[in-house]
Amino acid sequence: MTAEDRAEILRVRGLRKEFPGVVALDGVDFGLRPGEVHVLLGENGAGKSTLIKTLSGAHRPDAGRIEVDGETVQIRSAQDAERLGIATIYQEFNLVPELTVAENLFLGRQPRRFGLVDRRAMNRAAGELLARVGVDVEPGARMAGLGIARSQMVEIAKALGQDARVLIMDEPTAVLTSGEVDRLFEIVRRLREDGVAIVFITHHLEEIARIGDRVTVLRDGRSVAEVPAGTAEDELVRLMVGRSIEQQYPREPSEPGPALLEVRGLGRRGVFSGVSFDVRAGEVVGLAGLVGAGRTEVARAVFGADRPDEGEVRVDGRALPPGDVHAALEAGLGLVPEDRKGRASCSAPTSRRTSAWSRSAAPAAAGWSTAPASGAAPPRSPRG
Ligand SMILES: Nc1ncnc2c1ncn2[C@@H]1O[C@H](COP(=O)(O)OP(=O)(O)O)[C@@H](O)[C@H]1O
Ligand SMILES: [Mg+2]
Repeated sequence: MTAEDRAEILRVRGLRKEFPGVVALDGVDFGLRPGEVHVLLGENGAGKSTLIKTLSGAHRPDAGRIEVDGETVQIRSAQDAERLGIATIYQEFNLVPELTVAENLFLGRQPRRFGLVDRRAMNRAAGELLARVGVDVEPGARMAGLGIARSQMVEIAKALGQDARVLIMDEPTAVLTSGEVDRLFEIVRRLREDGVAIVFITHHLEEIARIGDRVTVLRDGRSVAEVPAGTAEDELVRLMVGRSIEQQYPREPSEPGPALLEVRGLGRRGVFSGVSFDVRAGEVVGLAGLVGAGRTEVARAVFGADRPDEGEVRVDGRALPPGDVHAALEAGLGLVPEDRKGRASCSAPTSRRTSAWSRSAAPAAAGWSTAPASGAAPPRSPRG
């Protein structure tokens, strides 16, 4: 039986959710079948997170209906969602770093014997769950040392341990390297074969054809299209933004002037080395690379937020003293960090002449994969 033949496990009809001054969901229809990977696609602010929060019991819809197995349900809490077999994996995991993997997997429902936690039974059951996900982690290992990719897999194992039939993943690949994404996709495919229904949010368009079956596109709180995952990327972008990418980012011919920023042989021991590039007046230069490739670190070193061990940064032909933010600001450099809230100390540019954007500098890894190579796209945070 293919996914198309199966009855829907979940159906959302006309869902509406308002926050003060914002209509986050304005009539969303969405259906999910067992054994499919259904991608939720939309620009920042389109309503994706709000939709999954209503499914996981974090928000109550103002209007509309949620049906599970054809019956209208009320999801008022995380416990309600769990009882209905709906598990959500947020970007901030719900795991306790001080506890072991097994303790996290069975938090609040440890197997007991004579009133005591039966550690052996718990570790055995944890081992079985971890094996089902195919993650190589000891049940007795502390959560804290695991790293993001394996923590995510433990979250998936936890969802399976709660007999989740619907697994919702909010941008699971945003924090993974490409090898880790491959690994995650293997797991997702295995779950799909087991009949789990998966809601998958991603900003990486090329992942949609790789892992998805169907795509629901949200725009301004409305579900505007449901298309097969094989839909061409430029069509997906058109549906997402309501017009074509050429219209959204019209290419304005520009005549770059002289080099304003020159980076020569910049390096920080053990972090990156030999980085050289020019940014000319009137041009946008992308810094592409995988998560962990050192893009953020390069931007910080250029700005002086970290002290480089070698190389030189020149603005207008004048070398900046290394590791001196004040001199960088003085020279007209600005840094908009990727985590604006967390690192607000390096705030907005004081000059309109030159600014290093850590986000816009990495369109391929952080934003849309089809972002134009140069000259146009503004920075776009993938998080909403
Ligand atoms: N708790 C909240 N309070 C007020 N406004 C919110 C809240 N959550 C989301 N919004 C607003 O609702 C809209 C949809 O947001 P969200 O669902 O996070 O979109 P997405 O996940 O697609 O980026 C946005 O305009 C956002 O600012
Ligand atoms: Mg979001």
